[in-house]
Amino acid sequence: MSSWWRDAVIYQVYIRSFADGNGDGVGDVAGLRSRLPYLAALGVDALWLNPWYASPQVDAGYDVSDYRRLDPLFGTLEDAKALIADAHAHGLRLILDIVPNHTSDQHPWFQEALTAAPGSPARSRYHFRPGRGVDGSEPPTDWPSIFGGPAWTRTVEADGKPGDWFLHLFAPEQPDLNWTNPEVRAEFESILRFWLDLGVDGFRIDVAHGLTKDPAFPDVASTSTGMLDGVAADHPYFDRDETLAIYEGWRRVADSYEGERVFVAEAWVADASRVARYLTPTRLHTAFNFGLLSCPWDATALRTEIEATLGVLAAVGAPATWVLSNHDVLRHATRYGRAQTSLADARRLYGTPVDHALGERRARAAMQLINALPGGTYVYQGEELGLPEVEDLPPEAWQDPSRHHGGHDGPVRDGCRVPLPWSGDAAPFGFSPAGATAAPWLPQPAEWKNRTAAAEEQDPHSTLSHYRALLRIRREWLRRGLGDGTPLEWLAAPSGVLAFRRGEVLYYANLSEAPVALPAGYRVLIGSEAVEGAVLGVDVAVWLVAE
Ligand code: GLC
Repeated sequence: MSSWWRDAVIYQVYIRSFADGNGDGVGDVAGLRSRLPYLAALGVDALWLNPWYASPQVDAGYDVSDYRRLDPLFGTLEDAKALIADAHAHGLRLILDIVPNHTSDQHPWFQEALTAAPGSPARSRYHFRPGRGVDGSEPPTDWPSIFGGPAWTRTVEADGKPGDWFLHLFAPEQPDLNWTNPEVRAEFESILRFWLDLGVDGFRIDVAHGLTKDPAFPDVASTSTGMLDGVAADHPYFDRDETLAIYEGWRRVADSYEGERVFVAEAWVADASRVARYLTPTRLHTAFNFGLLSCPWDATALRTEIEATLGVLAAVGAPATWVLSNHDVLRHATRYGRAQTSLADARRLYGTPVDHALGERRARAAMQLINALPGGTYVYQGEELGLPEVEDLPPEAWQDPSRHHGGHDGPVRDGCRVPLPWSGDAAPFGFSPAGATAAPWLPQPAEWKNRTAAAEEQDPHSTLSHYRALLRIRREWLRRGLGDGTPLEWLAAPSGVLAFRRGEVLYYANLSEAPVALPAGYRVLIGSEAVEGAVLGVDVAVWLVAE
């Protein structure tokens, strides 16, 4: 019997933008609980919730000040317990987001460290180091922050004089923890147990390739501040061998619980072979396979990426977990709506004209692709509605901290985080209840009246209707072709056509510039669009079975 997580469809709930129960313009647990029937009807197997812990919200909750409490913005611990029970009652597993690379600067540990003396045990939970130069006024290394600017900030000592510097790979309000400190290791295993005891089914590990740093603190001499580009081996702070041992401890914790409690790593590493290192049987269960995010909409490129991923994961016995979008990257319905469709191009082309209809058509064919591949899939809230990136948010609405820190002139991450449209003709489109006291925390475009869940439910040709049908059929064929287990066999096909077989189910997608004929003797189980005759239109995908 195959394990649930080897081919689960996991819905990413970006909680602050999912559904607002109390009318303050920010999504919360009450809102999420009220929408569980929608998620169950969608046909997903599990939910991954972005961080809901107590936080100053400098980086939308990725700056945690208390890992055992909910931020009042989202609810209480009682609400969390009720959600876990409700989700399970709806047949949905629940995965939390654990943030081990850094805490908030408001975390009691960091506050204690700031007032403690250099070299004290309180400071050794983080990375405090003297600066360089005669008066220590230069950062200890040349490491850049992912959000721009240096990754070090200087402290002021008790006597008012400038003191040591502390490391923050992200915002200055997100100091990096020192994972060589046994207290840090023990604390995180205890946090895992706290939530596992409450019944959660697993964790997404934030910046899972971070955590340990080269103790020699060498310069990195890099001009790239991006984490999303993937890093090469032997890097001073990403993807280091010592990090893997931490997860062996975490795996022992998870395995000591009933049911299959699992991990998914967010590891932006050089390639799939580096990802596989995290996924041996004594380490983590899964990691996001981000390869398709950077892959152009091209049959050869997609096939190459898929083969590479499946090849290296098979060697360690781990399933793939396919991802097209998340809360950090441009929504793929927009990425695919331009001629150049890799993630790097998407950043360069931000705000340039986009063909939304084309992007949505390809997004449906891509969704049908990943759900036909071996392994599991992720769906980022709103993907099921075909939502585009909102690229014209007014600057005064921007919230993402990456915009604050010099060095970044690219797009900010707010455009994929706009609150979901549920119903109605005008903002807040059912995101907040009637009589809400505040507008949604990011403004929703007026055109979204055609993109609400309610509107798409009424339309049998909508992306929502397609996605629901897709997941229903995927479940019917699960482990009889689709999902985990059945090998993928590439089929001969005309140039620009992606074609493979999974047991009895065939996948065909036409990425060429002209319609192509489908093989004879098969019927269409589902198409990303209506298919007429035996002809597959451009940017359309089908699942076929023998007639
Ligand atoms: C991860 C999160 C991102 C966050 C960063 C720092 O990449 O997905 O949203 O800003 O880590 O925690």
